[in-house]
Amino acid sequence: MNTLQNKKLLFGITGGIAVYKAAEIIRGLVKMGIDVQVAMTKHAQQFVTPLTFETLSNHPVMSEMFPADEMVATRHIGIPGDADAVLICPATANFIGKMANGIADDLLTTMVMVAGPEKTILCPAMNTEMWDNPVVQKNVALLREYGSKIVDPGHGELACHTIGAGRLASIERILSTARIELLRNNDFSGLNFLITAGPTEEPLDPVRYITNLSSGKMGFALTEAALSRGANVMLITGHTELTPPDDAETIFVRTAAEMERAVLQAYSSAHVVIMSAAVSDYRPADYSPSKLKKEGDSILLTLKRNTDILAELGKEKKDRLLVGFAVETDNVVANAFRKLREKNLDLIVVNNPNEEGAAFRSDTNRVTILSREGEEKDLSLMEKFDVARQIIDEIAVLKELKPASFKTTIEV
Ligand code: CTP
Repeated sequence: MNTLQNKKLLFGITGGIAVYKAAEIIRGLVKMGIDVQVAMTKHAQQFVTPLTFETLSNHPVMSEMFPADEMVATRHIGIPGDADAVLICPATANFIGKMANGIADDLLTTMVMVAGPEKTILCPAMNTEMWDNPVVQKNVALLREYGSKIVDPGHGELACHTIGAGRLASIERILSTARIELLRNNDFSGLNFLITAGPTEEPLDPVRYITNLSSGKMGFALTEAALSRGANVMLITGHTELTPPDDAETIFVRTAAEMERAVLQAYSSAHVVIMSAAVSDYRPADYSPSKLKKEGDSILLTLKRNTDILAELGKEKKDRLLVGFAVETDNVVANAFRKLREKNLDLIVVNNPNEEGAAFRSDTNRVTILSREGEEKDLSLMEKFDVARQIIDEIAVLKELKPASFKTTIEV
């Protein structure tokens, strides 16, 4: 199963130096199973030729409004009409201005006119003076108001050798937004999710710490999946190499104690909590502010127990939905059910890292979802993003069983 398989994306490229980055993004989208069709403006073709994008997307690149072949003369209607989303990357100030003001004077602007602003994601990229120009800002604000998604440009060194705002957002941010928008469904709108991710780090001295192999991939995938259903998501994450989705409110923590503080603070307003973080059960009993020097053949390290955050949340559960994770190598299902009961959870997601494709840091996982009612759902090996979608589907089922007051009973 791959939920992005057969999703259709129209990828529009307009003329700026960031065109070269579009190649990498298209490659990422195609790798996810998305059917990408590319349309380029004339100016975009001055930077990179269509052949690159034809090869990466496996489709001819469209650019002529009036092609010689009559069969494709209505593609400006059919292709954006069929697309699940339209991504304009890079989007120039000129293109943004045209779209905001209803101008359709070439193939791409006409296609976007057909698709409508709500289906369109724009990734602006331009020089800082252009980006800061109040006319551009007003056009961007107008498109946001019409429902377009804007992947705001980043800050950094620009092609014109100045430093400022305007460089194309990172590839990870653009891919994450595309994934979320392609699967958009707002049935969780108004619900507050609190999701934890990644490992914690428990310092021994300024240069050493105890941690684990968690990559954060599962928690970040859950964040995307919840956002795509229209939920508000607070992501509390330990150190990872990943870029959080733009629309998540992200809090970065290091230790289990920091995670505990952040989670407890956000708990009162959360309807759904998913603890996918690998929280360290112990921390060094003493922290040395000076670097520890080696002494003798062995040393003894005393560790102190950290609070079990999820167990604490379970004590004050009220109407909330609580989802935990468990990693087990023996008596997998029995141990996970025990944890579910002890921590007062609604669901627990368990995996065995010794199984193929289910190791830490892998892009895939093979999990079993257990419910409070004793149900056991074995999922096949799949991408973590799809595992996340399945977990969110289970939460959707539980949400339906909640009384209509569910949203209001939490102290928001
Ligand atoms: N968890 C937590 N606080 C901790 C430790 C774990 O909130 N200090 C959460 C994890 O985020 C996860 C679940 O509890 O959702 C895992 O349960 P746990 O019993 O800690 O699993 P293991 O660490 O695998 O336990 P054990 O080592 O005893 O098997």
